[in-house]
Amino acid sequence: MADYKDHKVVRELADLTYTMWNMGWDEKNGGNISYILFDDEVKEIDIDENGRFYEMVSIPENMVGKYIVITASGSNFRLVRDDVESTVGVIRVEENGYTIVAGFANDNKPTSEIYMHLLSHGTRLKADPEHRVIVHNHATEISEMTFVHELDDTSFTRTLWSMITECIVVFPDGVGVLPWMVCGNEEIGLATAKKMETCRIVVWAHHGILASGSSLN
Ligand code: 13P
Ligand code: ZN
Repeated sequence: MADYKDHKVVRELADLTYTMWNMGWDEKNGGNISYILFDDEVKEIDIDENGRFYEMVSIPENMVGKYIVITASGSNFRLVRDDVESTVGVIRVEENGYTIVAGFANDNKPTSEIYMHLLSHGTRLKADPEHRVIVHNHATEISEMTFVHELDDTSFTRTLWSMITECIVVFPDGVGVLPWMVCGNEEIGLATAKKMETCRIVVWAHHGILASGSSLN
C-alpha cells in the first residue's frame, strides 16, 4: 500500500497536466483529466473508504464501484505537479454520486466537468473494454477553428484529416462536434457521451476538446 501521491498513475497524470500547460492548452485551471484505475492499481493505494460523499444523478451503471483518479476543480495546471495533494484525488463512483477516497486536500473537489467525465467513461467502456482515460483541454488551434468552420461532424473531421496526413491514422473514427453549450453540467455531459458512442474525440465549439483512450501516455 502506498500514498496515492506516489503512485505511477498519479505521477503520470500530474506530468500530463504540466505538458498540456506547456503546450499553451490549459490557461490557469483550463482543462481536466481522469483515469479509471485497474483493480490491481486500487489495491496499491491507501483508500479512505469513509471519505466525503457528493450526490449526483445520471451515473452510468457500468461505472458504479469504479475508482477514478481525477483533477480538482480550479487547479492551476502549471502547478499540479508541485501540489498533487490538493489538485488531484481519487473517487469511488456510487449509484447516486461519488465518494472521495484519497486526496483533494483543503476541501477541494473533482473538476466541475465530472458529469462529462463519468458519462463519457461509461459510454467509451461499452465501446472499448480497454478504455481508461478522458482528457479535456482548451487547445487554442481547435477553438479557433470552431469560429470559422461549419460545426458538423463529417465536414469538421474531413478538414482535420486533410490538414495533417497522420490525423486519419490517429483518429480514424473521426471527431464529434458540439455547438457552444454551458459547461460543467449534466446536459453537456450527456451530449458529449452521446457523441462518444461512435468516436473517441469530441470538439466543444468555442471552448476546447476532449479525447479518450486506454493510457495516459
Ligand atoms: P475545472 O477547473 O472545474 O476542471 O474546469 C475547467 C474547465 O476546463 C471547464 O471546462
Ligand atoms: Zn474547459
